[in-house]
Amino acid sequence: MSNIKLETLNAVTAAQLDAIGADAAAAVKTLDTASGAGNDFLGWTDLPERTDSKLLDEINDVARELRNTCDTVVCIGIGGSYLGAKFVIESLSGNFAAMEPGRIGAPKVIFAGQNISEDYLFELSALLRNRRFGIIVISKSGTTTEPAIAFRILKEQLEQQEGRETAAQRIVAITDAKRGALRTLATREGYRTFVIEDNVGGRFSVLTPVGLLPIAVAGFNISALVNGARDMHARCSAGDDIAATYAAARNILYRNGKKIEILVNYCPKLHFLGEWWKQLYGESEGKDGKGIFPASVDFSTDLHSMGQMIQQGERTIFETVVSVDNVEHNLVIPEDKDDLDGLNYIAGKHVDYVNKMAEKGTLMAHLDGGVPNLRIELPRISENVLGQLIYFFERACGISGYMLGVNPFNQPGVEDYKRNMFTLLEKPGYGPAK
Ligand code: PA5
Repeated sequence: MSNIKLETLNAVTAAQLDAIGADAAAAVKTLDTASGAGNDFLGWTDLPERTDSKLLDEINDVARELRNTCDTVVCIGIGGSYLGAKFVIESLSGNFAAMEPGRIGAPKVIFAGQNISEDYLFELSALLRNRRFGIIVISKSGTTTEPAIAFRILKEQLEQQEGRETAAQRIVAITDAKRGALRTLATREGYRTFVIEDNVGGRFSVLTPVGLLPIAVAGFNISALVNGARDMHARCSAGDDIAATYAAARNILYRNGKKIEILVNYCPKLHFLGEWWKQLYGESEGKDGKGIFPASVDFSTDLHSMGQMIQQGERTIFETVVSVDNVEHNLVIPEDKDDLDGLNYIAGKHVDYVNKMAEKGTLMAHLDGGVPNLRIELPRISENVLGQLIYFFERACGISGYMLGVNPFNQPGVEDYKRNMFTLLEKPGYGPAK
């Protein structure tokens, strides 16, 4: 059962929500009846229900095999082909997991192909020299430059280290069913593959094998994740549509001049939630000269860098705070006989209690400073809760895009930099730079 809470606090009034109710209901209907722009990209809406145990078993089998043969698995992809997995894995892992060495049975999952940094790839290649590594290469189009470069380099290294046959057993490709260079290569080399359905866009693909395979390799329960998404879908369909409420609240705030939304967390493991969410909302809504600019911060860390701007800068900001009710571990602040740091007044208190008071105090200050706050409360960080949160944000994004009057499921602007880059690189068909 879905147990995430959404509070609109005093960001929007009940009267405002009522007033916009008809617009929100129309957007919900457009999404639910697949009658709006981009309706050929709605495969994500019933994906949790369509993801059967056969597919989950196949993913878990391949994940188990990679876990049994590799100490490191490099996940190659960019944008929607990496952010979801990165967000879920970081949220569920220990804070210092990146510093622990990978081992067979519990391999380190690291990411590549999300940049074109020579130093990043050189240093990654050096790191992998003495490792038994595998590769999950993810590209829906199969032609994206960043992952293609990383894959070309790491595939060659893997073949040199292990031989072509073993390398082929350690490479899994996730791509289009038929089209694209990656599909052709996978068929030729005999890689195991999973398909990204045509009707699921990259930024909505975390609950497809794109996200599920890396998450399973990292050792997490993908059934619970998918079940969480199902729970949220069931809740919204049963009339408690908190996704529609969030979309409506954002729309009211936008109409009232709040053009920037900051997603806030108080838990460093949720940093990549913000990165995933920024792509989801930015790529879905930023078009036709419209859209709320999505930003994110990690508090209390960023209160010491961005806090001033949020408290007293231009009043075009609102915040959505993702708050985690229960932490995993217990740690109490000790008493100190000298009390030179003056902390004895909170001795005996849990660190999380102080964090929660920082959250409450910041909320009050930001409300006083004219920054409306929405609040999403997670009971804890678990696979089920993250599944709920993913579906909540995806559904709200579709509704919000329709309320804004854009097609939330295309991204025509993403091509522009690519055209210029290809021209500058003198890619065949693009001609020399002028
Ligand atoms: O959401 C999107 O469509 C993009 O961010 C893509 O996910 C990203 O560009 C990667 O594309 P591909 O999976 O085709 O390599």
